[in-house]
Amino acid sequence: MRGKHRSPAPRRRSTLGLSPCRNPAVDRERTGRNYVTALSVSTSSATALRADALVVGVAKGPKGLVVAPGAEAVTEAFDGRLAEVLSTLGATGGEGEAVKLPSPASLKAGFVLAVGLGEAAEDGYAPEALRRAAGVAARTLAGAKKAGLALPAESAEEVEAVALGALLGSYDFTAYRTTEGGKAPVAELVLLTGRKGGKDAKAAVERATVLGEEMNRARDLINMPPNDLFPKSFAAIVQTAGKDHGLKVEVLDEKALAKGGFGGILGVGNGAENKPRLVKIAYTHPKAKATLAFIGKGITYDSGGISLKPAGHNETMKCDMSGAAAVFAAVVAAKRLGLAVNVTGWLALAENMPSGSATRPGDVLRMYGGKTVEVLNTDAEGRLVLADAIVRAGEEKPDAIVDVATLTGAMVLALGTRTFGVMAGTDEYREKLHATAGRAGEQSWPMPLPAELRKGMDSPVADLANMGERMGGGLVAGLFLKEFVADGIDWAHLDIAGPAFHEGAPYGYTPKGGTGSAVRTLVQLAQETAQG
Ligand code: BES
Ligand code: MN
Ligand code: ZN
Repeated sequence: MRGKHRSPAPRRRSTLGLSPCRNPAVDRERTGRNYVTALSVSTSSATALRADALVVGVAKGPKGLVVAPGAEAVTEAFDGRLAEVLSTLGATGGEGEAVKLPSPASLKAGFVLAVGLGEAAEDGYAPEALRRAAGVAARTLAGAKKAGLALPAESAEEVEAVALGALLGSYDFTAYRTTEGGKAPVAELVLLTGRKGGKDAKAAVERATVLGEEMNRARDLINMPPNDLFPKSFAAIVQTAGKDHGLKVEVLDEKALAKGGFGGILGVGNGAENKPRLVKIAYTHPKAKATLAFIGKGITYDSGGISLKPAGHNETMKCDMSGAAAVFAAVVAAKRLGLAVNVTGWLALAENMPSGSATRPGDVLRMYGGKTVEVLNTDAEGRLVLADAIVRAGEEKPDAIVDVATLTGAMVLALGTRTFGVMAGTDEYREKLHATAGRAGEQSWPMPLPAELRKGMDSPVADLANMGERMGGGLVAGLFLKEFVADGIDWAHLDIAGPAFHEGAPYGYTPKGGTGSAVRTLVQLAQETAQG
C-alpha cells in the first residue's frame, strides 16, 4: 500500500502499514483508518457549531443529575432546564450512560448527547472519568459526520483526557467486514475548550493524538487474524513503519536466528510453516542520557503446540502477540513525541503450532547465551521466546529492561481481565512501574517473585525446566524470566494476559478485541526517564 501504485483513484493508506492479506476483497476494505478521522480544538462557542451533535457531560450530584462544566452555553440554550429535561428522560449521570435529545432552535447542532461522568466532582473530574465519557460519546456517535465535545476541558490535562478518550472510543476494527451494517466511526470531532492558553491545549491534543493513534496501531495488529499476521508479515509491517518514522529496524529471519543460536525462539517457532523472527526497532535521541529496552512477547498464534490447548482456550489466541504490539507502538510513540531517551524495542515473534517438526515435551533447548531449558509443556512458550530476547537485549547494556507479555492464565485468575501484573528484579523497580502505570491511566498490581518457587523448575537434565509448580503460575513464569536478566540491569515484567484482549461488551474507551494495554505505561516510563 506504500509508494507508487498504478490504480487511478488515489487509495487511502492502510493503517496497518502493509497489506499481506491474501484475499483481495478484504484488501480493498483494509484501507483508511478505523477511528475518528479529524480531531481539532476550538475556543468558539458551542452554540455556533454546525454539527450533527453536541456532547455534554452529566454527573450524579447529591440531589440528582447535574450538568458538568463546559456545557454552559448548551444549558443556556435549554433555558437552564437541561438537567431537568435529562432527569425527566431517566438520565442519572452514571458512568457509561449516553442519552440523546433533540436540540432547541438556538443550537446549530442537530442533537445533544449527554454522557455520564459518574459521581459529580467538586474540584475537577479525574482524567479517567473524562477519557471514559469521551470514549462512550465517540462510540455512540458512530455514523455521524461531525460533533462538538462540550465536556469539561479547561486544563491541559482535561483536554488531553477528552481527546484521548475520543480517539480510543471511536475505534472499530472494520478491516475485514465486506457487508454493510456497521456504522463508520464519527468522521470529525471538535473539542471545545474555554481555554485562553491555546498553546497548552494544542500540545495536549498532540500528545493524545500520538497515544491514541499508537494504541490503535497496537489494537489493529492484535485484531488482525493470524492467517494474515504471522512473524514474517508482522516484521514487514514494522519495517514499513520504521521507514515512515525514521526508525532503525533489524530483522533476524529463521536462518539468522539459527546462526545466532536463538534456541528459544526457534524451538517455539519450529512447528509452524510460518517461521519465527526477532525484530529490533530502535529510537535514539542525541541528548539521551538513558537507554530503555522494551521486549514484547509476539506469539502470533498460540495453539499450545504439542501440549495442545483444548477447544475453548484457543479462540482468542491471536492476541498472544499483544506484548510485541505494545512495544512496537510505544517505540513509535517515543519517536513521534521526540522524547530525549533511547528506546530499543525487541519483538520476539513466533507461531506456536503442533507438527512433525514441533518441539516435544521432553526436548531440551539451548537458549541464546547458552543456558539449557527442558521443555515440559510446549504451551509455556512465551517465556522461551522472551528469554532469548532478554539475553540479547542485555548484551547492549541498557539501563533497564521491561518485558510485556500475555504470559499466563494464572495472572488472569489472580487479577481479572482489567489489571496487569507487575513483577521485577527489585521491590523498588516493581513499585516504580506500578506507579508509572497509574500515572499513565492503566490499572496494574505489584506481584512478588517468591524465591521458593524457583526449585519447582529444577530439571534433571537441563539448567531449568520451562514449568514449575502450578500454584502461583504467573509468578513461576516471572521467576523463569529472571534467570535470563543480566546482573546490574533494572528489569520489570508486565503480564498483560488479562487486559490485552477484551471479550465483553465495549465500555468507556475500550472496544471489543485488542485494547492496547501497556502502551501508555511504556510511553510514560520513556517520558519520565527522558525528564530525568
Ligand atoms: N498465551 C498463554 C497465556 C494466556 C492465557 C494469555 C489466557 C491470554 C489469555 C500462555 O502461553 C500459556 O499458555 N500459558 C500457560 C502456561 C502453563 C502451561 C505453565 C498457562 O497459563 O496455562
Ligand atoms: Mn501458551
Ligand atoms: Zn502464549
